[in-house]
Amino acid sequence: MHPTPLPSSQMPFVDTLGRPLRHLRVSVTDRCNLRCQYCMPEEEYVWLPRQDVLTFEEIATLVQVFTELGVDKVRLTGGEPLLRKNLPALVAMLARNPRIRDLALTTNGVLLAEQAQALRDAGLHRVTVSLDTLRPERFRQLTRRDAHARVLAGIEAARRAGLTPLKLDTVLIRGYNDDEILDLLAYAQGIGAELRFIEYMDVGGATHWSRDKVVSRADILALLEAHYGAVTPVAERGWAPAERFCLPDGTIFGIVASTTAPFCRTCDRSRLTADGMWYLCLYATRGIDLRRPLRRGASAADLKRLIVTTWQARQDRGAEQRLELEALGLRSAFVHPDELRQDPHLEMHTRGG
Ligand code: GTP
Ligand code: 5AD
Ligand code: SF4
Repeated sequence: MHPTPLPSSQMPFVDTLGRPLRHLRVSVTDRCNLRCQYCMPEEEYVWLPRQDVLTFEEIATLVQVFTELGVDKVRLTGGEPLLRKNLPALVAMLARNPRIRDLALTTNGVLLAEQAQALRDAGLHRVTVSLDTLRPERFRQLTRRDAHARVLAGIEAARRAGLTPLKLDTVLIRGYNDDEILDLLAYAQGIGAELRFIEYMDVGGATHWSRDKVVSRADILALLEAHYGAVTPVAERGWAPAERFCLPDGTIFGIVASTTAPFCRTCDRSRLTADGMWYLCLYATRGIDLRRPLRRGASAADLKRLIVTTWQARQDRGAEQRLELEALGLRSAFVHPDELRQDPHLEMHTRGG
């Protein structure tokens, strides 16, 4: 048997659809301090065993390997990543890696006011904060926690700390927050943040998903055009999931249309869970265990070989396949609650949003 030759970072390798591996989302914990309707609607959850959760050194080792293979964008996610103790220490370790051009974090913002400056000092470049409503009472209903004021304080602290460009992510659900599209845009504009509307996805723990609750890209654009006049696309989207648009007054916003207009053909991202499972797609039902080889002392070259051969065989286009099912009238929540209890890796909050 011939070992796979190792590509250098100058020689990007691609999957079966010609997609390079460039963007890694690293989940640092599966725990969360909110219970958003679209992500964690159940009463009880099965958590990853503590001893399986990677240490910061283990995460940094794996990230180093990925960056030597061409990954240059790293995003820390959760669950809620700020629940991981001493996160700035991990940020500092990753920030020393010169191959990472973009080091970002996705957070629900609840703990951000306390940590924004330390994260910035540790070398974090920017944050994206989830903000689904401007109404405290509605926030409580949507998330089952009373923390709206803390999220707004967290957003303000991130801005002050210079964690920019600051982005806000809003998952729209019909009948819950679709009446706040204009208000959320005005709020973001007022604080100099870029808002992105996210279509509600039938993914992971979204067990209450149904197609009629999705506010589509087309719905959003129609509403904004009726209110403001022409909405113009801004440049090409490239490899990013968000399409960007401009209102007549110059406000820029984004739409992530994973449900009705998937971007699988340009998906250059993969996900590492807190326990070291590597997922090639948000909808993948199986991941590749990197923790076991790492803890058994695999060399960097061994890990690279495993990663390269796995990526070269990648065929995933999960969101497109969901859309194909919809055309056949067969689309409903992707995973049953029983399956989620048997394998928490299927949860969106485990594989990092
Ligand atoms: P930027 O680099 O700032 O553009 O970040 P991003 O859009 O990649 O990251 P963010 O965490 O803000 O992602 C926004 C949302 O887009 C996520 O929470 C998901 O809902 C969705 N999303 C992100 N990555 C994927 C993906 O690979 N597939 C699909 N279908 N949806 C994704
Ligand atoms: N649909 C769309 N986005 C989701 N997220 C979690 N669950 C869903 C879902 N069902 C994303 C949101 C949130 C981030 C943490 O994860 O963008 O802001
Ligand atoms: Fe909400 Fe994010 Fe927590 Fe999921 S992981 S419940 S989306 S805050």
